[in-house]
Amino acid sequence: MDTAIADTTPLEYTEEVAVATAPLYAKVAGVIPSVEWPLHAPYIHAINRLKEQRNAVILAHNYQTPEIFHCVADIRGDSLALARRAVDAEADVIVLAGVHFMAETAKILNPSKTVLIPDAAAGCSLAESITGADVRLLREKYPGVPVVTYVNTSADVKAESDVCCTSGNAEAVIRALGADRVIFLPDEHLGRHVQRQTGVDMIFWKGACEVHERFTAEEVRSYASAYDDIVVLAHPECPLDVLDAADYVGSTAGMIDYVAQRKPARVLMVTECSMSDNVAAEHPDVDFIKPCNLCPHMKRITLPKILRSLQTLEPRVEVDPDTAARARRAVERMLEIG
Ligand code: 13P
Ligand code: SF4
Repeated sequence: MDTAIADTTPLEYTEEVAVATAPLYAKVAGVIPSVEWPLHAPYIHAINRLKEQRNAVILAHNYQTPEIFHCVADIRGDSLALARRAVDAEADVIVLAGVHFMAETAKILNPSKTVLIPDAAAGCSLAESITGADVRLLREKYPGVPVVTYVNTSADVKAESDVCCTSGNAEAVIRALGADRVIFLPDEHLGRHVQRQTGVDMIFWKGACEVHERFTAEEVRSYASAYDDIVVLAHPECPLDVLDAADYVGSTAGMIDYVAQRKPARVLMVTECSMSDNVAAEHPDVDFIKPCNLCPHMKRITLPKILRSLQTLEPRVEVDPDTAARARRAVERMLEIG
């Protein structure tokens, strides 16, 4: 096996691979053209076999591409679900098919496990917008005001925070705090949305998701006027006027549940492109209109990198134990709330 580690020759699509992966292709046939399958299938086959040998589990975020999301992931979900399921993981090795802060959260919650991120450069514009030192300065400026931090941040930032939140539970976390005023970091758009929901006074940071801030209300309205039966679902990292043009605002898991439960005829998901592909694979009767904004960080994760990561058990995510312990308090407090 070790000789294969340095080998970058594409794996071969053999008869054995074709037969073994046929049931998986049936799941994604609606979103992956058949000519592309021979490129993915050998990696899917190799990953699924090696995963068992390593006693590894693959956690995939909803923005991963369908060949990862539907064909090698054991656990799929939004940031909240991935954090929750990371706690229950019984495997020795956790491979996080997502971005670095998600892998760091898994490590914070599972310090004794090997946590791998197939590409260590898979970052996030929100996580990069703020440091632990920035949070300490804000605490000095606003003494006694609780700090609520979106999970899209580094362990250093979480360690300086009172409680974390995700897009799926931000409103519940703010309400549970019961404070009149909070420092909400670092996503200003999500913060303004939650401020409107809760009426709590908030101090914001100028952070934004580089993918969601590109959507405009005009773009959403133009889709809505082109199709009169369209249902618009938007992620709360979008600017407020975009959210105002939507029929539903929620986390990636919230949007998936909306489609599963209400089965609208036509949907526009105002979020990262791969989401629509992943949901479309499971709902062939729903027509997905796909405005495409890619997250370049999420797209760093590929099947060959996942395979390599399982072969080498690298790149590992490590968090300094003192920082991890302080960050864990803020993440666990969030998990207790909802
Ligand atoms: P969710 O928690 O809604 O999956 O969002 C994570 C994220 O990075 C969205 O851009
Ligand atoms: Fe970060 Fe935005 Fe990418 Fe989500 S979509 S990981 S918030 S840059």
